[in-house]
Amino acid sequence: MLNFNINAMKKILLLFVLLVGLLSFSQNEATTEKRIQSLVKKMTLQEKVSLLHGNSKFYVSDIKRLGIPEWALSDGPHGVRAEMNRHNWQYAGWKDDAVTCFPPGTAMAATWNLDLTAQRGYVLGEEARFRKKDVLLGPGINIIRSPLCGRNFEYLSEDPFLISQLTVSYIKALQTKDVAASVKHFAANNQEDNRFVIDVTMSDRALHEIYLPGFKAAVMDAKVLTVMGAYNKFRGDYCTENMLLGRTILRDLYQFKGVYMSDWDATHSTVNAALAGLDLEMGTNKTNYNEWYFADPLIKAVQEGKVKESVVDEKVANVLRVMIKTKVLDPKTRIKGSVNTKEHQALAYQSAVESIVLLKNENQLLPLPMNALKSVAVIGDNATRKHCGGGLSSEIKPLYEITPLEAITNKFGNQLQINYAQGYNKQSSPGEGSNKGQLNSDFVDWKLIDEAVAQAKKSDVAIVFAGLNHDFDSESFDRIHMRLPYGQETLIQEVTKANPKTIVVIIAGSPLELSGIQTRVSSIVWAWYGGMEAGNAVMDVLSGKQYPSGKLPITLPVSLQQSPDVALGNYPGRNLKVKYEEDILVGYRWYDTKKIEPLYPFGFGLSYTSFAISNGATDKKTFDVNDTVTLKCTIKNTGKFEGAEVLQLYASQPVCSVLRPQKELKAFEKVVLKAGEQKEVSLKVKVKDLAFYDEKNANWKVEPGEFIFHLGTSSKEIVNSVSAQVK
Ligand code: BGC
Repeated sequence: MLNFNINAMKKILLLFVLLVGLLSFSQNEATTEKRIQSLVKKMTLQEKVSLLHGNSKFYVSDIKRLGIPEWALSDGPHGVRAEMNRHNWQYAGWKDDAVTCFPPGTAMAATWNLDLTAQRGYVLGEEARFRKKDVLLGPGINIIRSPLCGRNFEYLSEDPFLISQLTVSYIKALQTKDVAASVKHFAANNQEDNRFVIDVTMSDRALHEIYLPGFKAAVMDAKVLTVMGAYNKFRGDYCTENMLLGRTILRDLYQFKGVYMSDWDATHSTVNAALAGLDLEMGTNKTNYNEWYFADPLIKAVQEGKVKESVVDEKVANVLRVMIKTKVLDPKTRIKGSVNTKEHQALAYQSAVESIVLLKNENQLLPLPMNALKSVAVIGDNATRKHCGGGLSSEIKPLYEITPLEAITNKFGNQLQINYAQGYNKQSSPGEGSNKGQLNSDFVDWKLIDEAVAQAKKSDVAIVFAGLNHDFDSESFDRIHMRLPYGQETLIQEVTKANPKTIVVIIAGSPLELSGIQTRVSSIVWAWYGGMEAGNAVMDVLSGKQYPSGKLPITLPVSLQQSPDVALGNYPGRNLKVKYEEDILVGYRWYDTKKIEPLYPFGFGLSYTSFAISNGATDKKTFDVNDTVTLKCTIKNTGKFEGAEVLQLYASQPVCSVLRPQKELKAFEKVVLKAGEQKEVSLKVKVKDLAFYDEKNANWKVEPGEFIFHLGTSSKEIVNSVSAQVK
């Protein structure tokens, strides 16, 4: 009896708290809307329109008489970009705008750590506020469709579920700091070649199942405050004036109430863009800001009746709503922010550590027994190259950046002979929008190789820091091939012949063909671009102070020809049109379904320790559409070191009226375990999330029948498959 009363009281209390919360939320919303309406009423048409376009590269005008300050936008996704000049693309040359630089997108995704991703969001929010920014232009979440896309390093993954989870964590955290995120680039912006004009077509199913879920989650789950419209065309119309994307999907389906802004110089019309839901025109390449599409021409369009003033009011309301939610209009109560604190730097370090993926460790060369070594050869241009300042709009001016050579020298210089050799030579530098830096990149410099071989020969072990740089991984152009550039394959082969104890560390943000070194080298580590703490992180993982726990957020194919975009002849398109013919079979969905063996599968990553996974079972055998499937399992660290494993749950539907991928990621959890430790883990999937996009009814559909839940440590290493029925 007493039990019943306590439980009942608890429930009533909970309901009460929920109700009060809901009430005060809707009261807040109502007050905000009232405030917006009252401001809009006081504005002239000219004032309204002044809020709908930039007054310089990254600012929007103030309206002083109404207490509306200038609105400050800034790149970007892994740090707050250095201050730019107001009216050109040069840096302003400030002395105090250096910041914390995190590892870019693919590295963030490789951590598979939602908490760490949220921590990054908090830090970026703090630093953006310190720099007095109102909107931080990121995260960039376009699907990694082609291995060659120049911006892959900035994006997250080939998998929409992983992207959605990370995006929601990042945005929610960032926006608690009174800064708006801007999820970009909406939508289907999956290559840089011809990005300003390429016309993308794909099925509705591919759009909704693969290319949109990240954006949907950003809007509906994370309540992102701004969305950036992409450069490209989609089904014939530019994204920024695309009725389907801007109105039907973003506004009507996702109920987006924030600001839909153009990418920089991505607006192409006044009336069409205004009607398609675009709110804010940014970066247009005309020095007279009054001539922009959403400036005088918009005023004229209203006066001529081509755009109703209510449409303009709706846009102004969206801008004001974002301003109010981020306290732009209430500066006294707003977060002031902080920059370059020890905590921020520690987080940049941890993010780099957790992103590092151990691909191969056949002879257990790693972790390196540093105290037993007398000499180490450090080879490769990437041992000394700093990467934070490259890649174009996401480039960062970091407070500092530690290279691998600096890190090993600082940490072990007293106890070890460090024998450095450059090994290969970066050929040239690209100009903006040109891939010049990639030309001649197959040149083999035997002089540098011979020097490297000599250093490797006289050292106990050799570490080659190979991979790419921002001549390859960059906005505004794609890669011209997927090979290791600058004769690195030959370099690595020669160094390994000279010293079989050679470890290769790949620094790159997108897939590379590694088959040429795979047979020769027994230890390969993928370290991405690691941000300002890159060198410290990689050296600590190599030396065993930290353990590798990253997992690939992308597939590494054997060759470019395996990749669906290239295999089907749909990259980079013809006559400025590209059809995504592979449809929903992107990334591992393609390799699995078509039974193509990649070199390293999606989700893959080794550890210094070993794990045993057992008892994987679902809570029931039959589920209703409204149920949640819980799969419980036990994981034990059976090795000698602490380590982390990412448990991955994939689902498949063997019999269905439409083609379903062989498996699709539906849940994951990163589990940290001390040596010998064991934990029970529950992975949950809502049955609704097993749906496919039914084109006939333009809606999601769960088709009853058998589903199989595959528990694994990558998309290929499945330890347990459990069958269940959906009614
Ligand atoms: C990029 C955006 C970036 C903007 C502002 C554009 O070229 O595509 O991602 O935010 O420039 O720098």
